[in-house]
Amino acid sequence: MNRDSVICMYSARQVPASPRCYCISSGNDYQLSRIIDGRAIVYIAMMGIEVIGASYVKRNCRRGGTVVDPRYRNKGVAGYLVGESLKDFPYQYSILRSNNVAMQLLLAKFGFMKAKSTQEINEVVNGEFSQLHDFVNEGEFITFMRTSLRRHVQRERLILVHNYAIN
Ligand SMILES: CC(C)(COP(=O)(O)OP(=O)(O)OC[C@H]1O[C@@H](n2cnc3c(N)ncnc32)[C@H](O)[C@@H]1OP(=O)(O)O)[C@@H](O)C(=O)NCCC(=O)NCCS
Repeated sequence: MNRDSVICMYSARQVPASPRCYCISSGNDYQLSRIIDGRAIVYIAMMGIEVIGASYVKRNCRRGGTVVDPRYRNKGVAGYLVGESLKDFPYQYSILRSNNVAMQLLLAKFGFMKAKSTQEINEVVNGEFSQLHDFVNEGEFITFMRTSLRRHVQRERLILVHNYAIN
């Protein structure tokens, strides 16, 4: 994989609306609407004309979903997408399922740390903090729940990872 063969940054309206691109664990339509509304930038990995991976970052620097076609996993595609997004948005955070080890390890390679206190979470997410609740101190990090106001769903336990300079 190299830059020429893989990555383009598309503005929302240039992204082909293939459901395959957005096969992220939950709320495909919801994720797609955020991209189409221009509230997120999607990074796409292509093999020829085929989309093999996608990752997006909201304009508030929150990382959204990342997905790689199973046939192309463990080849560095997701890492490449994250690396490219960090060139545009050097400081990012992400709210991940606490059992999503793959994504946690991937982001750790880029210096993302798990938040260790509610104060740290509050500083990173700012306005979103009021949607988070049921905080549990797990020792090395904090888990919590988040109720999505738009989707009215309660997710699984979550963690926050970020690369902000907060002690
Ligand atoms: C998670 C996912 C995006 C990783 O994509 P990928 O292209 O295979 O990842 P990469 O090859 O770039 O891996 C980079 C690093 O991520 C971590 N990683 C990736 N897959 C992993 C796995 N299955 N288990 C543990 N660590 C993993 C490793 O640290 C890896 O580095 P290494 O190869 O030096 O060990 C991919 O498995 C996927 O699409 N999963 C389904 C969707 C999903 O769960 N997305 C995350 C929620 S947003």
